[in-house]
Amino acid sequence: MATAEQIKALIKSYIEEDDARFCAVAMQVAAHAARQGHGRLADELRTLVDEAKSSAGTKCRKGPVPIATPRGELSELLAASYPQAKLADMVLTDALLRRVTRILREYRQQHKLHAHGLSPRRKFLLMGPPGSGKTMTASALSGELKLPLFVIQLDGLITKFMGETAAKLRLIFGAMEQTAGIYLFDEFDAIGSERAIPNDVGEMRRILTSFLQLLDQDRSNSLIVATTNHGEVLDRALFRRFDDVIEYQHPTRDLAQTMFKNSLAAFDTTDVDWKCILDAAGGLSYADLVRACEDAAKESILSGTVVVTTGRLLSALEERRSVVHR
Ligand SMILES: Nc1ncnc2c1ncn2[C@@H]1O[C@H](COP(=O)(O)OP(=O)(O)OP(=O)(O)O)[C@@H](O)[C@H]1O
Ligand SMILES: [Mg+2]
Repeated sequence: MATAEQIKALIKSYIEEDDARFCAVAMQVAAHAARQGHGRLADELRTLVDEAKSSAGTKCRKGPVPIATPRGELSELLAASYPQAKLADMVLTDALLRRVTRILREYRQQHKLHAHGLSPRRKFLLMGPPGSGKTMTASALSGELKLPLFVIQLDGLITKFMGETAAKLRLIFGAMEQTAGIYLFDEFDAIGSERAIPNDVGEMRRILTSFLQLLDQDRSNSLIVATTNHGEVLDRALFRRFDDVIEYQHPTRDLAQTMFKNSLAAFDTTDVDWKCILDAAGGLSYADLVRACEDAAKESILSGTVVVTTGRLLSALEERRSVVHR
């Protein structure tokens, strides 16, 4: 067994993110175990340390990674986070679930693919209406693969750096090589649109061309996710640059039902008239349903009960609908 001093040293090196020291102490623990006759434990510990060392380049710790700490220009371009989201938190059609699961499988077992000259799918375009789960999918990929999520707000980037946007994009693609992560280009239609923008003297085209070149050249170990609400305005030529183009939609009646059940799992919904609620929920997004459930749940809690009634849910849904159609 490890001594008290070794345990303290392990914790300290973890806090200080001193990976080399962490591994050195772990090896000491292994040696100590071997001396005490625990040969099998010693072997297991050494194997774990070896694995940790060999994956250090590709796996990211939960703590700050170099890029996440504000460093020069990159800190202005990327917002880093470490979501804990899981795919199981999402309500998806079977087809969507299969596609997202395939991304995870290929990434997790990429060594098997590489051994046969193949690569995991890494470049995705997610299209669909607001609140349908595009950003949440990027968070779930991040949570499942334990990779940091870096969000690039494209419209903000362009407005702020107009003439320099292509150079900024190069910086971001450089970062992808250095730090494996999920790189989420939100509002991709800001550059991917084929409609000419008034007063835009070809600058948008140039930005798009740079983006596509960088996307083609990218050989990093990161996942690149672009999202848009306006798939219809995107240049068709774009689609083939992505490994997957995934379409999101508002929930079907069945999926809306699942969403309600999940969101209100901690509440008593025995008396809810689901037919009436599902009629009222038609055409609303997943995000609207979540918000309506939260509103109804809060009302219940503040009235001192855990019972959610049809009336409370109905009025919360109507409120969401009025916000959507404003
Ligand atoms: N498929 C889903 N399953 C479960 N919850 C969902 C789903 N889609 C959306 N939600 C809920 O709605 C919230 C907002 O969703 P999200 O940010 O992923 O939407 P989006 O598609 O990225 O929208 P936008 O186009 O406006 O960026 C999520 O945080 C989650 O609570
Ligand atoms: Mg989003």
